[in-house]
Amino acid sequence: MTGPKHIAFIMDGNGRWALKQNKPRFYGHEAGMDKIEQVCNWCKDFDVHIGSFYAFSKENWKRPQSEVNFILSLIEKYYKQKLETLNNNNIKFIHIGDKKELPPKTLSCISILEKETENNDSFYLLFYFNYSSRAELDRAALLLSEYIVKNDINLQAVNSNTDINLSLSLFLYTKNFPDPDLLIRTSGEQRISNFLLYQLAYTELYFEPQLWPEFTRKHFEKAIKSYQKRDRRFGGLKGS
Ligand code: IPE
Ligand code: IPE
Ligand code: MG
Repeated sequence: MTGPKHIAFIMDGNGRWALKQNKPRFYGHEAGMDKIEQVCNWCKDFDVHIGSFYAFSKENWKRPQSEVNFILSLIEKYYKQKLETLNNNNIKFIHIGDKKELPPKTLSCISILEKETENNDSFYLLFYFNYSSRAELDRAALLLSEYIVKNDINLQAVNSNTDINLSLSLFLYTKNFPDPDLLIRTSGEQRISNFLLYQLAYTELYFEPQLWPEFTRKHFEKAIKSYQKRDRRFGGLKGS
């Protein structure tokens, strides 16, 4: 099978990685953010065009304020350190998630990253920050309802008219992108943790025991090889 075009990453295990070396959890978050650049390069080498990186969930606000503040401060650091590299590597940065709850400083760094990389097109770095899939689905349902009301769409007619497409997917943050082909979660946890519940319907899942900061090109290649051995059927029959 050909390789994946879109890989989603649940970048988990930063805290455990730091504690393993008797360092504070913060240290792991810093290393975790740094890892993204390498992973984008590996993706490009393997002809992957889209990377979805889960960096901070809506549930992660439950963590101690000091840890949350540190993670927020990393966005500013990332913007200062990586904007030039993103442009040199022709990578487009796109934020995915709820912008409303983010502090103005974080938002302005995200806006600059998006604006300054908007014309890049060799790789799409989708950065999920303050994202949760259930919230995304609730939002999509609301947007779809508004659309129906605004356009005065008769729901009875929708049932019998296949030309009217009211798929929820049109109202997701990810509406302009194909679904991930492969999901890689590091740290050994085998769960989805509120990430892309709709979009992962037919995604191949791969759980890597290594913690995110220690995820190497070798581990990445192993995941790609495993993907290439899978038989994706999408409900059809083998090899179809
Ligand atoms: C992932 O690493 C980063 C975030 C969720 C913000 P963790 O911080 O969850 O690391 P562990 O799972 O506690 O080791
Ligand atoms: C998932 O990791 C979220 C991110 C990697 C951003 P968590 O560490 O928050 O997930 P749980 O709590 O172990 O499910
Ligand atoms: Mg975790």
